Amino acid sequence: MLFDTHAHLNDEKFDEDRDEVIRRARENGVTRIMNIGYNRETIPTCLELAEKYDFIYAAVGWHPHDAKDMTDEDLHWIEELARHPKVVALGEMGLDYYWDNSPRDVQAEVFRKQIRLAKKVKLPIVIHDREAHQDIVDILREENAAEVGGIMHCFSGSWELARQCLDMNFYISLGGPVTFKNAKKPKEVAQKVPLDRLLIETDSPYLTPEPYRGKRNESGYVRYVAEKIAELRGVELEELAEATMNNARTLLKI
Ligand code: NI
Repeated sequence: MLFDTHAHLNDEKFDEDRDEVIRRARENGVTRIMNIGYNRETIPTCLELAEKYDFIYAAVGWHPHDAKDMTDEDLHWIEELARHPKVVALGEMGLDYYWDNSPRDVQAEVFRKQIRLAKKVKLPIVIHDREAHQDIVDILREENAAEVGGIMHCFSGSWELARQCLDMNFYISLGGPVTFKNAKKPKEVAQKVPLDRLLIETDSPYLTPEPYRGKRNESGYVRYVAEKIAELRGVELEELAEATMNNARTLLKI
């Protein structure tokens, strides 16, 4: 039984066969999914999906790509949605210095506002970090994000960075890249993170694991992520599945 802690199944890439994709995930042993809504367009469709399927939960927040568009009204909207019974986390939020779709100071401000909101509504946060490792850690520390904790989504940093995040009460979530041949850092992190702080995800439709790398990703493929991590740690798949399931349920209180 697997928990895909990060998916975008409301994405238009699933418009043709969404129900089929979700059925396949169930067949592959995925019994819980956290789907992510991250802006004005995707939050409503994310909630629709969480309302349709009892095993799909929602996180709502504002992506750094869209930081430049977030208004006070939007933030207030997220605050209201935090009371929705299927909303179990805020995010994804953070910094993206690869695409730089919003000015970096605006990304930081929107990130800080959401951390403060999460502390107010007492929900864990889902962190998006692309080539912004040090600033992410600094902001989490300055805002005392440890108070709510959360998930370092598709963690791509070093073991040294992972340790700093663990110290701040965060879980480390690994996705497709851990299966890539030359992904040294995620493999090292997969081996070293304490089993009670590890999570698995797909980030569907992105970051497809081997053997489907390059194709559209889907939640059922979280199985390949779990298998690779189990292999790297030298444990049985069942043990890895059970631990990551328990971790997610503990953090998200479900
Ligand atoms: Ni995502």
